[in-house]
Amino acid sequence: MTADSNLSPDHPTPPRPSTERVSAVLRRALDHGLLGTDQPVAGFLDTDGIRASVASLHTAFGAVPGVLHTFAAKAASLVPVLRLLAGLGMGCEVASPGELRLARDAGFAPSRIVLDSPAKTREEIAGALALGVALNADNLDELDRIDALRPDGCASVIGLRVNPQVGGGTIGAMSTATATSKFGVALRDPGGRERVVRAFAARPWLTRLHAHVGSQGCPLELIAEGVAETYRLAEEINAALGRPQITSLDIGGGLPVNFAGDEVRPTYHDYTAALRAAAPGLFDGRYGLVTEFGRSLLAKNGFIAARVEYVKRSGGRRIAVTHAGAQTATRTVLMPGSWPLRVGAFDAQGRPRTGPPVAQDIAGPCCFAGDVVAVDRELPALDEGDLVVLYDTGAYYFSTPWAYNSLPRPAVHGFTLTGGQVRFAPVRDAQTLDEIAAESGARHADRLLALAPDGITR
Ligand SMILES: Cc1ncc(COP(=O)(O)O)c(C=O)c1O
Repeated sequence: MTADSNLSPDHPTPPRPSTERVSAVLRRALDHGLLGTDQPVAGFLDTDGIRASVASLHTAFGAVPGVLHTFAAKAASLVPVLRLLAGLGMGCEVASPGELRLARDAGFAPSRIVLDSPAKTREEIAGALALGVALNADNLDELDRIDALRPDGCASVIGLRVNPQVGGGTIGAMSTATATSKFGVALRDPGGRERVVRAFAARPWLTRLHAHVGSQGCPLELIAEGVAETYRLAEEINAALGRPQITSLDIGGGLPVNFAGDEVRPTYHDYTAALRAAAPGLFDGRYGLVTEFGRSLLAKNGFIAARVEYVKRSGGRRIAVTHAGAQTATRTVLMPGSWPLRVGAFDAQGRPRTGPPVAQDIAGPCCFAGDVVAVDRELPALDEGDLVVLYDTGAYYFSTPWAYNSLPRPAVHGFTLTGGQVRFAPVRDAQTLDEIAAESGARHADRLLALAPDGITR
């Protein structure tokens, strides 16, 4: 592991959870009872790493005036994480009433929140406008709704999301600028560009253009091309209107993460360099900028640790049955080709496991055959009571669990490691059986019986 090897003032690369760092955290977590037979799986977030990632984002845009960096709440929808990020000067991008609520609970000022969801109801729109949060309309019909709902003196910055249709990346499900994407107004469809220009001409309060080209799997050049296309459209609209009506561009998030190793690549500096090359005027201060990064800020700053419950053999293959499966590594289990994860092997005391590598499957606890997070992976032989670590899972993994098999949402712990000392803070408690029953309708246990045709409940 090469945690801090390329740290320099110009290109700060945050510390990453190295094997030694993870081992120190695991040992302390075992001592504190945060992992054990009754807590067989948990998520861990490196707050030192999060601080460093945010700093590297700010540094990369350092000289650019008027930038609001928002964090895409979907990447880690946990109030303490959002509050940490608010304290580090971030805003928050939200895409549902639930995420808006979390952002508010975390303390983000409405002026630092951007609402982006593609299916906003009239009530959500009215609520957001009353609060004064910024809002990006997904389509022209949504603009019509805003026409009717916008109160006098509305403080919200209102934008329109466009789809520059520059194409997709390696993961279709994460590519939002394809020809047929469900997001934004399709710019290259016949008449699309003209309709957007007319929408701005009719609404002097419409002052922002938004595009998010895609997330994991989209190369930097593709993202830069989509942003450049959006910038050129803003120039065209302002020229057509004869006034600088568009004052800001929301250029989305989507910087891909290297899930294959420790190295942070591409970096935020690579990103700003690609944007400078694709749209030289973008950073000259005529447009305020909003970014919406999620995965690139959090993924490498978190990991899942899970106990090995059994080790068995089937068809000649060694299989470690662990407590981390589809309930916490959903994308990896359901789309293994697109979301491979690195797995670390540690012993029951949290020390790195040594020994010759043996091909083994790392399976989860869910009751379906495909609940496997790694197949035929070469690792030191795992035994009952050992711990597996799923690296790079700080975003979109334990923070967005799946309730399959009524498995509890695992606890999440934040940590800092200074001077060899690990300190923890709670982020989310493990879900209890009472809570699982409550969210599974326990309160209504008898209600279906009351629908019996003869009215007799039995
Ligand atoms: C509109 C929008 N902005 C930002 C993001 C965050 O993307 P990422 O986590 O890849 O940076 C997403 C992810 O889906 C998104 O849909």
